[in-house]
Amino acid sequence: MNAQEMLTLKETALAEAGAAAGVVDLEAVRVRYLGRNGLLPKIMKGLKEVDPAERADVGQAANALKQELGSLLDARRAALAAAAAAKAPAAFDYSLPGRWRPPGSMHPISMVIADVARIFGRLGFTVADGPDVETRYHNFEALNTPEHHPSLDAQDTFWLETGELLRTQTSPVQIRVMERSQPPVRIITPGRCYRRDKTDATHSANFHQVEGLYVDRDVSMADLKGVLAYFAREMMGPGVGVRFRPHFFPFTEPSVECDFSCHVCGGKGCRVCKHSGWIEIAGAGMVDPRVFSKVGYDAEALTGYAFGMGVERIAMIKYGVGDIRLFYENDARFLEQFA
Ligand code: PHE
Repeated sequence: MNAQEMLTLKETALAEAGAAAGVVDLEAVRVRYLGRNGLLPKIMKGLKEVDPAERADVGQAANALKQELGSLLDARRAALAAAAAAKAPAAFDYSLPGRWRPPGSMHPISMVIADVARIFGRLGFTVADGPDVETRYHNFEALNTPEHHPSLDAQDTFWLETGELLRTQTSPVQIRVMERSQPPVRIITPGRCYRRDKTDATHSANFHQVEGLYVDRDVSMADLKGVLAYFAREMMGPGVGVRFRPHFFPFTEPSVECDFSCHVCGGKGCRVCKHSGWIEIAGAGMVDPRVFSKVGYDAEALTGYAFGMGVERIAMIKYGVGDIRLFYENDARFLEQFA
């Protein structure tokens, strides 16, 4: 080994270290030159055989190469590690707060419908369903509603081009259920209804009713009153007042309207009850024998009662909501209060 050979060795070693593509290559270079049996230790050990004139130079050059190669290998190793880290996906930080999503909750209208179904369920009523798009027959004719009745007017009802309509009440479900089943019948039918009402604090063109129908032998008006009074107390609490007023519906005879005392003002009078202390909740009555004849029931043997109540009205007095429009605006500040 002479000084010239040392120079060549240095060039080769540094070039190899510079060209190494990964940590495995780098380690191979290290072992070859700096390892226990590597080239540089071997040169040091063989120094005594070197020409005495060059010995010192060769020794110095070997030592300097050992230093230089060592730091070059370290630097390359660090650079490769940094490049790998930059390419790897960011490590997941488990200490970060989770993503918050507002918890959903039941809409107050759905809550009231669920309560109604639960209360009448205890009395043996099951839930039945019917279409929102109804035939004129089911919504009016079968319910003994005459041709000239104002609710058939285009001003009051949404008519479709097919001659069908958006049901104005849940009463057509009575007809559909009686058409397909034999008495006794004991159902409630919650659902959406439509009327061409101008929207204000207590009216909406789209609203909900729950219809009730009980048909059997010896059903009386007293049963109807008892059931609605029981429902009122279960729904509103024992302090609620219930009153019945004579009324007219084409498909019940006799007919009544059923009011609950206003929960918002405790009966003293407020905007919600239009300062009367009472809120009209349901129309009701004894099923008209003509309706039984329409569905092929024995009108002589059977009696029954029916009622239809406004879900929004109940929700308004139960939760003290002063404006029906709040139910449809999807304002989270309103809906959150029922969560
Ligand atoms: N359908 C009637 C209405 O919408 C309410 C009602 C139902 C009345 C059942 C009597 C019996 O006004």
